[in-house]
Amino acid sequence: MKIHIFQTKEALHQAVAERIIDTVKQNPSCVLGLSTGSSPIDTYANLIEDHRTKGTDYSKVSTFNLDEYVGLPGSHPQSYRYFMNQYLFHHVNIPLEQTHVPSGIGDLEKECETYEEAIRKRGGIDLQLLGIGTNGHIGFNEPGTPRNSRTHVTRLLKETIAANARFFSGEEEVPTEAVTMGIQTILEAKQIVLLAYGGPKAATIRNAVKGPVTEEVPASVLQTHPDAALYLDEEAAALL
Ligand code: GLP
Repeated sequence: MKIHIFQTKEALHQAVAERIIDTVKQNPSCVLGLSTGSSPIDTYANLIEDHRTKGTDYSKVSTFNLDEYVGLPGSHPQSYRYFMNQYLFHHVNIPLEQTHVPSGIGDLEKECETYEEAIRKRGGIDLQLLGIGTNGHIGFNEPGTPRNSRTHVTRLLKETIAANARFFSGEEEVPTEAVTMGIQTILEAKQIVLLAYGGPKAATIRNAVKGPVTEEVPASVLQTHPDAALYLDEEAAALL
């Protein structure tokens, strides 16, 4: 795992955005794996600004998001489809039909299979962006998720529901299940970039980087990936 540490959040977001832009420039038909949560919002803002000022072209790019809440349609303001449209897709020239976010409604078993199939058909993910939950989850792969898991429906742990309640009007509004790419799906990406900042993530980052590779800390599997990099601010890196 490569570790990049930045003095400011701004520098961190700029570096992650530059890495994504380089990937798109090198391969205009690349496949990007994208994430939600508060962490990537400013990275996406950098992509939008670069597109506006320098015209980086997304017309042939495909994207696959990590996850979606079960029960929320894409029109729901807290759905991850809505988030992606709002924070990125509506502001760059990517055709919406080339953007994929798992559906959290309908036949979910079928949705999981179709999602894996769609990733395969496009030749796999070139660069997967990740955040990290304070319990070490990546996507919505909670502690205990098997290493060989693929896109599946998962039950969210209490701590994740509590952490994500800040985006809803209350904890009881947070869906209890989600559709998420599995650990194995994530590990098959050619490059992985995880970004994290702030003191509350420091212990999680230490466990993921310095602890054993264990299903109890889902992000620790990144230690086994040949091209995974962590982009951290000094606070998130404080315990390394
Ligand atoms: C959610 C998402 C994760 C994300 C995590 C961290 O649980 N499913 O993909 O990494 O939140 O969120 P934040 O970036 O807001 O700390």
